[in-house]
Amino acid sequence: MKLPILIHPDPRLKKVSAAVEDSSDALRALAANMLETMYDAPGIGIAAPQVGVLTRMVAVDCIKEEGATPRPLIMINPEVIESSDEQNVYEEGCLSLPDQYADVTRPAEVTVSWMDENGNAHRETFDGLWATCVQHEIDHLDGKLFIDYLKPLKRQMITRKMVKLKRERARA
Ligand code: NI
Repeated sequence: MKLPILIHPDPRLKKVSAAVEDSSDALRALAANMLETMYDAPGIGIAAPQVGVLTRMVAVDCIKEEGATPRPLIMINPEVIESSDEQNVYEEGCLSLPDQYADVTRPAEVTVSWMDENGNAHRETFDGLWATCVQHEIDHLDGKLFIDYLKPLKRQMITRKMVKLKRERARA
C-alpha cells in the first residue's frame, strides 16, 4: 500500500523517532509499504517519519540503473558506528522536499549497524551514493533534513517554496 508522504514544513519531520524494541508483523507491513511508496515516488530512500510514523526505520535502494537487480534494504535502529575523514559532496533531494536539490558534504564512507525486519543484526560499510543516502535517511530519524546543512537564506527560500506548494495542493 502506498502511503502519503509528509511535505516540509511539518512538525513530525522535526521530531526524534523512537527506537524499535522488537520486529513485528506491523513493522514488516510498514516496511513493505515504505518500499512501495519509495519505488513509486520514485526515490532511493525513505524514513518512517516521512510517512508520519516516528519509529527508527528507513528503507533504501540506491540501485538506479535500468535493468539492474534492486537491492531493497530495511534498516531498523540504524546507527553510524564509523565515518571516514574523507568527505564527499552529492546533490541531495528528498521526498519531503519535492523538486528541491542542493549540494551537501558528508563523510564519504560510513559503517552502519542495523537490524532488519526479521530481527537479524547487520553491519556494513557503504560508500558513494549509498553512504550519502543512508546518512540522509538516518538524519530523518533525528528530525534533521538535508536543508539543515544549507545556509539559512537558502533554507528559508526552500521552506517558503514548500509552504506555497502545500497551500496549492490543499486547494487542488
Ligand atoms: Ni529525505
